[in-house]
Amino acid sequence: MPKWLNDAVFYEIYPQSFYDSNGDGIGDINGIIEKLDYVKGLGCNAIWLNPVYDSPFMDAGYDVRDYYRVAPRYGTNDDLVRLFEEAHRKDMKILLDLVPGHTSDTHPWFLTAKSAKVTEFSNRYIFTKSVWDAPPEYRMMCGICERDGNYMVNYFSSQPALNYGFSRITHPEWQLPTDHPDCLNTVEAIKDIMRFWLNKGADGFRVDMADSLVKNDDDKRATAKIWRGVREMLDAEYPEAAMVSEWCHPDRAITDAGFHMDFYLDHYGNGYSRLFRFGEWGDLAVFNPNGLGDLKGFAEEYLPAYNRTKDKGYISFMTNNHDMPRVTAYLDKQAIKLVNAFIFTMPGVPFLYYGDEIGMRYQADLVSKEGGFSRTGSRTPMQWNDGKNLGFSESNEPYLPVDTASDAPTVANQRDDPDSIYRVVTDLIALRHKYDDLHGNGELEFLYDNHSIPFAFRRGGLTMFFNPLGRDATLSTECDGDVVYKIGEATIENGKVSMKPQSFLMIANC
Ligand code: NOJ
Repeated sequence: MPKWLNDAVFYEIYPQSFYDSNGDGIGDINGIIEKLDYVKGLGCNAIWLNPVYDSPFMDAGYDVRDYYRVAPRYGTNDDLVRLFEEAHRKDMKILLDLVPGHTSDTHPWFLTAKSAKVTEFSNRYIFTKSVWDAPPEYRMMCGICERDGNYMVNYFSSQPALNYGFSRITHPEWQLPTDHPDCLNTVEAIKDIMRFWLNKGADGFRVDMADSLVKNDDDKRATAKIWRGVREMLDAEYPEAAMVSEWCHPDRAITDAGFHMDFYLDHYGNGYSRLFRFGEWGDLAVFNPNGLGDLKGFAEEYLPAYNRTKDKGYISFMTNNHDMPRVTAYLDKQAIKLVNAFIFTMPGVPFLYYGDEIGMRYQADLVSKEGGFSRTGSRTPMQWNDGKNLGFSESNEPYLPVDTASDAPTVANQRDDPDSIYRVVTDLIALRHKYDDLHGNGELEFLYDNHSIPFAFRRGGLTMFFNPLGRDATLSTECDGDVVYKIGEATIENGKVSMKPQSFLMIANC
C-alpha cells in the first residue's frame, strides 16, 4: 500500500475546462502546470486528471483513440511528462484516467476488428458470429460493419466493449471464456498502457467503470480477479503507484479486486446520495436544513463497509465529480460548508472537484458538449478572476461558456473572503494534514447509536459535531475539550454542545 495515500487529498481536474494557456479556447496541460501552485495552495497534494489521450471526444475523452498519445489539443506527451515532473518537484502526485472497458470506435484496434479480415484483433472486441445474431439482453450495434457480426457497446454507441470474456456463457458460438488467450491479451494490453505511463512518471490511475470488464459476471469475481493481477503487477513493479476504482462497492473493489481506493459515488438512494442529494433536488438530504434527511440510510450502508475494508484500502468521498450536478444545485452555501467539513474530516482519501472550492454553480440547460448532456453544466470553465472568460481563456470562443452571472464566484473574489466556501475548504484540508487522527486510516466512531440529526463522530482525539438543521440543537458529551474549528455558532460547556442552525464544531482532547 503506497504510504502517501494516507495523507492524500486529491483535486480532480477536467482538463478541457481548467486553464487555457495558448488561447485556443480549450484548457491544456501547460495550463495545469501553470496552476499547480494554486492546487497546492488549497492543500491538495494529488491530482486526478480526466482522460487526456487522443480521442474524437464523443464522450469527453472516455472514448480513447490512442492510449499512448496525448490529445494534440492538450499538448504533447512531453508536456504531460513535464506535468509529472513539476508536480513531483512540488511533492504532488498525478493519477491519469484509465479507460479499460471500451475504446472509441475510431481506435485502430476496432477499425481492424470490424473489417472482414481475420487478424490478431478480431477478438479484441465482442462480436456476434453473424449480423442475424442480436440477443436483446446485450447492448449491440447491428449491421454497420464490413465484418458479418454485431458488436457490444459498453457505454455510448461510439464505445465498443473490449473483450475480457464472459463469466456465464449463454451463446458459446461467440462468447469467449475469460481464460481464452485473446481475452488474456486484452488484459496484457491494458497492463502495457499502465506501464507506459508509469514509466513516464504517472503515479497511478483512476479506473473508469472498473467493474465492467468481464460480461455476465454477476458477482464480479472474474472482473475482480483481473484487477488482483493488475495489483500484483503494481506491487511488484510500481509499489508507490495507486489505483482508485469507479465501482462504489468497497467489498468488491478493495477486498476482492485489490484497489487501493474506491469511490463512494452518487447512486440515487445510496448512502452518499442520502447525505448530499437525495429527494427532489436534495430535499431529503442529511445536509438540507429542512431536517427531512435520514442519517441511518448512510450509516447503515457506510459503517459496515468501512469496518470491513479499513485495513485494506480507503473509501473515497468526493465533493462532486464531472458526472453529477454540482452540489450547488441542491444545497445552500452554509450547508455546503458543512458538507466540506464532513468530507474532509471523514476517513479515506477525499477528492475535491475543480471549482467546488469556490462554490461554482451547476449551469442547467446548457447545450450538450462532447457527450456531456446534463453533465455539461458541471463541466464549465474554471472561474479564476473577473477578466475575459473569468480568466479561463483569452479566446473569443471558449469551447464552453463560462458562468455569465454578475455574481459568479471566482478564485479572486473568494480567496480573501472570510465567509467563503474557499476559506472552509482550505482550513479543513490544512487541519486534515496537521492531525494524524484525521488522516485516511485514522479511527472513526459515530457517537450516538440512533443516528439522528444532529450527529457527531470521533476520530482519535478529535470530535466533530454537526448540526445541519435550520434550528438550534444541543448534544451532550462527556467532557469539554478545546475548540479547534467551528463553522457558524456553536459552543461547548460542561459537556453540553449548543449549536446554532447549520453549524459545525471540532473539539480536541475530549
Ligand atoms: C464514467 C465516466 O466518469 C464518465 O464520464 C464516462 O462517460 C463513462 N464512465 C464512460 O466511460
